Amino acid sequence: MTDRDFSGRFPTTRLRRTRQAQWIRQLVAESHINPQDLVQAVILREDDAPSGPITAMDGILRSSVDEAVEMAKRAAAVGVPALALFPYTSVEDRDATGSGALSSDNLMARAARAIKKAVPEIGLIGDVALDPYTDHGHDGLLRDGVILNDETVALLCQQAVVLAEAGFDVVAPSDMMDGRIGAIRMALDKAGYQDRLILSYAVKYASRFYGPYRDAIGSRGVLQGDKRTYQMDPRNSAEGLREAAMDVQEGADMLMVKPGLPYLDLVRRVKDAFAVPVAAFQVSGEYAMLRCAAEAGAFDFEAAALEALHCFRRAGADMIISYYAIDAAGWIARDL
Ligand code: PBG
Repeated sequence: MTDRDFSGRFPTTRLRRTRQAQWIRQLVAESHINPQDLVQAVILREDDAPSGPITAMDGILRSSVDEAVEMAKRAAAVGVPALALFPYTSVEDRDATGSGALSSDNLMARAARAIKKAVPEIGLIGDVALDPYTDHGHDGLLRDGVILNDETVALLCQQAVVLAEAGFDVVAPSDMMDGRIGAIRMALDKAGYQDRLILSYAVKYASRFYGPYRDAIGSRGVLQGDKRTYQMDPRNSAEGLREAAMDVQEGADMLMVKPGLPYLDLVRRVKDAFAVPVAAFQVSGEYAMLRCAAEAGAFDFEAAALEALHCFRRAGADMIISYYAIDAAGWIARDL
């Protein structure tokens, strides 16, 4: 017999063996990122609105409808399957009830029609919430300082149908009202859109990391108070599973966790708990953190940004919404 220790200890076991060269690292990699796992986030603007700059989001510009069509073409060319659109509406077009959300000719609808005409194979995800359209910046109706739940849900149902009519394949309620997934499913079905998907922002936190986005869609200056009466408390985790469970029961096709990187524990918990595709949203503040750190000399932006995408995959995200999805397709090809 040998005096060798075969109990899995060093020196018989050397974990560095599978790290010694790129070929073996590739073979043993437990997760991969591909362009087809990514969704490009696009902030839309009217032709006469400024394209940028957006606070702390160097490298990101708001897109006119024509520019959004070009982005859709680029996405299709590099294998990014879908775009998620968000509108920057002009301040004059906002009112207390967010009525612009229900207009069948609003910026979102016009962009969807133009993109679907030019690039019919690209998937389009439309945000369902009132905040780009309200003069108080909230996702729902505001009365006496309270965000009304059921009254808001009725409007969101109409907004979802408007988006479906315009050509959005997926509606993505980001508002966090209770009961909206079931109500939107019924409204879509009733309008004949039983094949349109619902990507629920199921586990969405009241997060500071949305700061640059509020600037991007022009709601920062107008937002009254905060969103803590409807978005989740960052201290909670089990509550996120309850949100996810209810949305699955109400008919969500896919679940989202948002923000992304600081909330990867929720991505993993939701992925393990439900047999439903899980999306993670790498939000504006996460982009800003990477970009600002890179500009301060902390690291190479592209390499760090690609690493972040790997982390989402490792945590179990099936798809990732990101402001640099199209660019990342190139970094993946170069194997940064
Ligand atoms: C609002 C909405 C937000 C984002 C997407 N939809 C912000 C918020 O809830 O205040 C954030 C996106 C980002 O930060 O990139 N319905």
